[in-house]
Amino acid sequence: MRRRKSALLAGLLLLSLQPADVFAQKKTNRVIYTSTVGRQIYNDRCAVCHLPDGKGRGGEDAAGNGFPPLIGLSEWLATREGQLYVAHAIIFGPYGTVLVGDKFYYGLMPRFGIRFTDQQIVEVIRYVAEVINKPAPGYKPITEALVQQARRLPDNMDALEMQRNELPQR
Ligand code: HEC
Repeated sequence: MRRRKSALLAGLLLLSLQPADVFAQKKTNRVIYTSTVGRQIYNDRCAVCHLPDGKGRGGEDAAGNGFPPLIGLSEWLATREGQLYVAHAIIFGPYGTVLVGDKFYYGLMPRFGIRFTDQQIVEVIRYVAEVINKPAPGYKPITEALVQQARRLPDNMDALEMQRNELPQR
């Protein structure tokens, strides 16, 4: 009887601990991307260069030929300016050399502004922000209104580069 009682107590203790843990986990991963739309767009149109897990590739030879990683974008994607830049990049299709960490990547990305609707751009950015990356504190999903704002930005590489230079180095 005594034994059973302590087993019961231990069981109760475990039960009472568990909800707290589950809650803590929920708190850190508040935004969980569940749509399959962004995943599909990413796998069909982005993964060929940036790889399915967003690790990027290349950047090893003297010219830096390659595709930059899309992991390491959490900080940018938790701010309006960063989201605006990422949307602008997807719409415009950057080219040339870009520095990520201590590596240069040289290449060309297609212009997706003409191929994607605002909603598709939202979906793919959410996939990058919430699945490829782990949302940083303060993260809020990008809106279609912000994508529309990105569409109105100057359609040239200089403007895109200046916008990127305003962001913290990634
Ligand atoms: C044909 C290869 C290719 C495809 C496909 C491609 N990209 Fe890129 N992407 C690049 C290259 C190359 C760069 C760097 C260009 C530069 O600025 O010099 C880049 C840059 C970016 C950047 C900016 C990164 C930074 O640090 O400034 C983002 C964001 C991005 N791509 C997202 C995407 C998304 C999302 C898709 C799919 C909708 C996509 N890319 C499809 C090649 C590609």
